Amino acid sequence: MPSVLEVGEVAKPIPNDDEVLMRIHSVSINDWDWGLVRGKPFVIRLFFGLKKPKITIPGVDVSGKIEAVGGNVSSFNIGDEIYCDLSDCGFGGFAEYVCVPESHLSKKPFSISHNDAAALPHAGLLALQGLVEKGEVKTGQSILINGAGGGVGTLGIQILKSYDGLTVTGVDSSEKLDLMTSLGYDRVIDYKKVDFTDTGEKYDLILDTKSHRSVFKVARSLKKNGRYITAGGSMARLLEIALLGSLISLFTGKKLSVLIHQPNRGLDQLSLLVEKGQLRPVVDGPNGFDQIPGLIQYFGEGRHLGKIVVEIEK
Ligand SMILES: NC(=O)c1ccc[n+]([C@@H]2O[C@H](COP(=O)([O-])OP(=O)(O)OC[C@H]3O[C@@H](n4cnc5c(N)ncnc54)[C@H](OP(=O)(O)O)[C@@H]3O)[C@@H](O)[C@H]2O)c1
Repeated sequence: MPSVLEVGEVAKPIPNDDEVLMRIHSVSINDWDWGLVRGKPFVIRLFFGLKKPKITIPGVDVSGKIEAVGGNVSSFNIGDEIYCDLSDCGFGGFAEYVCVPESHLSKKPFSISHNDAAALPHAGLLALQGLVEKGEVKTGQSILINGAGGGVGTLGIQILKSYDGLTVTGVDSSEKLDLMTSLGYDRVIDYKKVDFTDTGEKYDLILDTKSHRSVFKVARSLKKNGRYITAGGSMARLLEIALLGSLISLFTGKKLSVLIHQPNRGLDQLSLLVEKGQLRPVVDGPNGFDQIPGLIQYFGEGRHLGKIVVEIEK
């Protein structure tokens, strides 16, 4: 549980030749952190330790400044403001310093703060990779995002704004519907009152951040040649979609698949959208470092709006 986390002193890390030493200004909270502190779902233990976690400092989405560079680092210098996702290079974002391979870094957009930048990498790229790369969104389409008031959905709707003539429906709990409307969702649905797969409405593209419905139900909500992409949800549903999705695709032409997140791939594209003024994260916070355990619990209970951000260096 999040209460197992303690504040402690560790040695300042030293970057190897391909890494930079980053002084972390801000970090945001993700599903990885919620999963790591509980060891759930079980699959997380297969990767990060069966009995106890191999990762002792969680935290993946960080923004900060370079304080030292390794001998082979060529594209970044001391003093550069950078941001990135640490989920495939050892985590460690709930700290003052972390070493990061140069290959994982992007320059922080000038026009936003570290607090905003820390909210972007993980959720922003799930949205970009789900809607644009795998979803191949096209102008004029009818789109639904399930779990639209969280990190992915609040960034996803802004990414979709560069496409003309879209009709975008967002599904989430009632407390998040006003925020979703203010961000540009054309229609909003409270999932506790209405099951979007029961309305008879059909979509060209569905991005699901919380898959809980059967693969057959979601397939029925797709138009001919429509795509359903899930980023997360119950393990049983994800397995069902991975196994049966391609079979359904074979018979119906509809494409149903699980998104495999590629950390940091496309981060410069997000930076461009930010610099154009098209993308601004919804930040829940900023909060203080000592609040992290409580914030992870708050995240797990789904009470947050957008991304929960922690400011490490004031
Ligand atoms: N595919 C990959 O490689 C990969 C990698 C990392 C993470 N992920 C997954 O990607 C997803 C990230 O989403 P996120 O950052 O946007 O999460 P988030 O910030 O937690 O947002 C999820 C939203 O979904 C809502 N929700 C919960 N149950 C729902 C339901 N049955 N129907 C509709 N909405 C529901 C939540 O609201 P309430 O709680 O108020 O209901 C919350 O607003 C997570 O599922 C994560 O596990 C995938």
